Amino acid sequence: MNITVIHGPNLNRLGIRDKKYYGAITLTEINKMLEKRAITLNVSLKIMQSNHEGEIIDFIQQYSDSANGIIINPGAFTHYSFAIRDALDDCSVPVVEVHLSNIYSREGFRAKSVIAEVCAGQIAGLGAQGYLLALEGLNFLIKQKHQIRE
Ligand code: DQA
Repeated sequence: MNITVIHGPNLNRLGIRDKKYYGAITLTEINKMLEKRAITLNVSLKIMQSNHEGEIIDFIQQYSDSANGIIINPGAFTHYSFAIRDALDDCSVPVVEVHLSNIYSREGFRAKSVIAEVCAGQIAGLGAQGYLLALEGLNFLIKQKHQIRE
């Protein structure tokens, strides 16, 4: 089982950036948490972070064929990137959208996700735990799709 994890723009600044919304955890710590949980789920992860829309699209195109599912926090691209939405829509694997903060309780522009419609589900507002829940949820969805029993 292969899952790709995509962190969008400015998420490399976690730990320094706006702690009120994102907490003190760093991206390295989140990735370590994910890797640890992935081992217990027998899942192999491919993780990337980019501040560039085109790079994220290239990555989706390159790795979605070999992946069984995608976890993505598109950062601010969530709210306006039709190009990332199209790239995700184009791949045939389930996608789970994650946000550390509750995008519905902040500025108005954050309450709209152009990505959500092409996702199997969304987790927002649960901080770094949201990534672990996304991993577990996606693992469940993939196994259900392939009718794999524990
Ligand atoms: C975010 C929410 C976005 O609105 C913001 O632009 C981010 C982080 C989150 O994880 O809460 O960069 O995706």
